[in-house]
Amino acid sequence: MRALIALSLLLAACTCLVLGCNSQEPPPERPAPVAAPAPSLPSPAQVDVPDPLQDWLAQSPMRLKMRSMWIDCGMIVRNVEGSGLCDFDSLEGSAEDIARKADSFADMWEAIRDQNRAMAAKAKEGDWFEARYQSQRIWSSCTDCHIENWSQHTRGFRPATIEGWLYNRNTADDVPTADITLSAPQPFIELMFTMMRGLNQSVRGIENHNANRVLDASAAVHRVANVQLQFWRAIEGQARAIAELAANNRVDGVEGHYAKLTQSCIDCHTHYVKDQRMPLNPLAWKHGDE
Ligand code: HEC
Ligand code: HEC
Repeated sequence: MRALIALSLLLAACTCLVLGCNSQEPPPERPAPVAAPAPSLPSPAQVDVPDPLQDWLAQSPMRLKMRSMWIDCGMIVRNVEGSGLCDFDSLEGSAEDIARKADSFADMWEAIRDQNRAMAAKAKEGDWFEARYQSQRIWSSCTDCHIENWSQHTRGFRPATIEGWLYNRNTADDVPTADITLSAPQPFIELMFTMMRGLNQSVRGIENHNANRVLDASAAVHRVANVQLQFWRAIEGQARAIAELAANNRVDGVEGHYAKLTQSCIDCHTHYVKDQRMPLNPLAWKHGDE
């Protein structure tokens, strides 16, 4: 099975070599790209393994979304600032793609923020049963994001897991899995553990009927969720504004929205993601000049 996949990948690669899969020539009038030091893409350790199934499991949906938004940003600049004509469909589509992704991240953080707030309010009222229920809703929202955005490798699935499922023709039998293996940047993971601690302390406060403890602990979760939420809503708003201009075949004002949009990408990366492998920030408006 795996050999087959490997073989077909190899075949596809060879066909590309012979036929040239990427045969599109750049338009001749486009200026040669300015030589810049190649930014090194962060490379999580586990994608080094040359095993197609391993590769598949290692893909992080969150990183894929980030990469698409990075390309979308590039396409916005290219359409408006580039030397060619603006393709308004491409401009609108790129902005909409960022808006949809940002909206979906924002919704997740908003659910957590609001449930956390509801939990604190119930604790303050002394409604311990409802407060406990709300704390479970929070955890369920955290899990929603984890399932959607973690790589399957992070979740503990391994080639042997998938092979076991295929071999058994069901998922019921014991197959090898691993523990959670994290690959996100350290500061982002620290945010996660801050929330984890806050949530655990809230639950302990609820169990001991200690409202002050719940209020303190939930404030920590609120701060994290709210900051993340503001980043994504800001990005969503700017991206929607660009999409709306594009829908009306306009480019005036795109530059200002683009500057604000990308500043939010950069700010989150700088404050909450920075580590030895700095995430790739979107290109500046006139990137050729810098
Ligand atoms: C926007 C999506 C998102 C939301 C919302 C989110 N997380 Fe996470 N979480 C992640 C990512 C991404 C990782 C790191 C995955 C990796 O390293 O591969 C992570 C990792 C973690 C980890 C470390 C792994 C583990 O289970 O030990 C903990 C703990 C955690 N999150 C707790 C929380 C808690 C608690 C909440 C809710 C209050 C939450 N997260 C909400 C995306 C999210
Ligand atoms: C609220 C925080 C936040 C915002 C806002 C944000 N990012 Fe990220 N970005 C992250 C995190 C966290 C990672 C690291 C993910 C990982 O390695 O698991 C990341 C990584 C990346 C990467 C590297 C992906 C890879 O393959 O390793 C790119 C590219 C990127 N972001 C682009 C963008 C763009 C473009 C925007 C704005 C449209 C943006 N990001 C907005 C948090 C954010």
